[in-house]
Amino acid sequence: MATEQDDKEVDDLIDPISELPGFEETESRIAVLGHPIHAMSVAFPVALTFCVLGADMLYWWTGDAFWARAALWAAGTGFLFGMLAGLSGTAELLLVSGIRARAPAWTHFIIAVTLLALLGANWGYRLYGYEQAVLPYGLMLSGLCVLVVSFTGWHGGKLVFDYRLGTSKGS
Ligand code: HEM
Repeated sequence: MATEQDDKEVDDLIDPISELPGFEETESRIAVLGHPIHAMSVAFPVALTFCVLGADMLYWWTGDAFWARAALWAAGTGFLFGMLAGLSGTAELLLVSGIRARAPAWTHFIIAVTLLALLGANWGYRLYGYEQAVLPYGLMLSGLCVLVVSFTGWHGGKLVFDYRLGTSKGS
């Protein structure tokens, strides 16, 4: 049974990370009139990643080269917009002390960099023959990209809605 002494010892425990100066500073710095650029820019790579999978499946179904070309463009623009979103996210991570101090922000960084590598591979592979690239490896890569982008987006949402990062001071 927990005694009063035990309760006091638990109360005395201090998370050393929360003692860091600037731990409470979690508001977005990379923003336009208070609107975080990262949150605004991630919609593009997320949507384009789903478009690549859709175009690949339509190519598989119809055999129409148009869909293989659409997948090539969606893969390329998805990768480039992903890099832009990654730049704004990285600037936020490095410049905002309260974001930098929290482990989940670094977890998101690692998942997101994995995603960017996969998006780049999915685009680069198609540059050497966009029709032949679709079946089977292009389609498989697109499926993997959709899984990883979903995880990245879900985890980014956790940073905002659970940890209140990029929103206001004092999370
Ligand atoms: C590569 C480096 C990246 C870093 C360091 C990073 C960092 C962050 C941080 C700190 C936040 C909290 C909100 C803020 O401060 O703006 C966030 C949110 C988010 N991130 Fe990233 N991010 C990266 C890349 C990406 C990529 C590539 C995607 C998806 C394609 C992504 C998707 C999201 C989403 C969906 C949110 C939630 C936005 C909201 O609901 O407002 N992130 N990210």
